[in-house]
Amino acid sequence: MSSLLILGATGKTGRRVVDVLTAAGHTVHAAARTPGPASAGVTPVAFDWDDPSTHDAALAGVDGVYVVPPALRLDNPPLIAAFAGRARSAGVQRAVLLSARGADADASGPLRQAELAIERSGLEWTLLRPTWFAQNFTEGVFRPDDALVAPAGDGRVPFIDVQDIADVAAATLTGEGHAGSAYELSGPRALDFGEVAATLAEHAGRPVAYVDADPADWERGAVAAGLPPDYAAMLGMLHQLVRAGHEAVVSDGVEHVLGRPATSFEEWAAREGHALRAPVPA
Ligand SMILES: NC(=O)c1ccc[n+]([C@@H]2O[C@H](COP(=O)([O-])OP(=O)(O)OC[C@H]3O[C@@H](n4cnc5c(N)ncnc54)[C@H](OP(=O)(O)O)[C@@H]3O)[C@@H](O)[C@H]2O)c1
Repeated sequence: MSSLLILGATGKTGRRVVDVLTAAGHTVHAAARTPGPASAGVTPVAFDWDDPSTHDAALAGVDGVYVVPPALRLDNPPLIAAFAGRARSAGVQRAVLLSARGADADASGPLRQAELAIERSGLEWTLLRPTWFAQNFTEGVFRPDDALVAPAGDGRVPFIDVQDIADVAAATLTGEGHAGSAYELSGPRALDFGEVAATLAEHAGRPVAYVDADPADWERGAVAAGLPPDYAAMLGMLHQLVRAGHEAVVSDGVEHVLGRPATSFEEWAAREGHALRAPVPA
């Protein structure tokens, strides 16, 4: 059994990775700026990407690390490079990076630069490149009220259940044969946003209508709602890829790593869609 450091341990993928690893008997150091409580097999660790004085303590005695870059910002490649260097010096052997599908489309872009920071670290590395998370609609920035507003046209996305990402992360952190691999991860079928809204409505117990937003209006609205402008621009660009049909492709990474099919959007919604019945946070 290994001792593993999980960054973003209170977030969408990280907290599920913690659960999978502890259920398998591994010792987990669960890191975030505001870490959760201690429990059997879980040691909470205070970790802040912007405070390097927290990094060495988090890495002490660790065999492998799940790296979740700080969300909603694009300045993370140098942070990840410095962190990976410290990990190597601390004797960590393996890193699994949560990247994103399409990271390799732009060699100088922040996603690929973050990947290269891990690849060049001297650690054994694996890259996870998931498509859009299903949980964005229940735990993330795209949670709908009575409207699902997106500048996505009739583009389609094979949304992935983050539990599948967590299962793949745990398998690659603790299993053999994944070093030097980049896994593209998606659900089994691409849905358009009208289908998404219909499925969400079924589980929310209220109507949810898809509104195809004007891309520029949507981006202005995202900034007005508090997203950093550069991040809103990147999300706008990602919607453009969806709109143009480029995100519809289904990837086989989940089945390749886990030997079972990826979870469908409908299966995910049946399991977690009840979260939509709670009031939308202000
Ligand atoms: N959402 C998608 O569809 C999607 C698709 C592909 C890839 N991704 C990638 O997934 C990654 C995670 O995004 P997410 O929205 O799912 O976030 P998340 O993992 O749900 O939440 C962020 C986690 O990181 C921690 N965190 C945030 N800022 C931190 C900081 N400065 N230092 C240390 N820990 C910090 C948070 O805890 P504290 O706040 O307590 O620190 C929390 O545990 C991003 O890099 C994103 O690009 C997302």
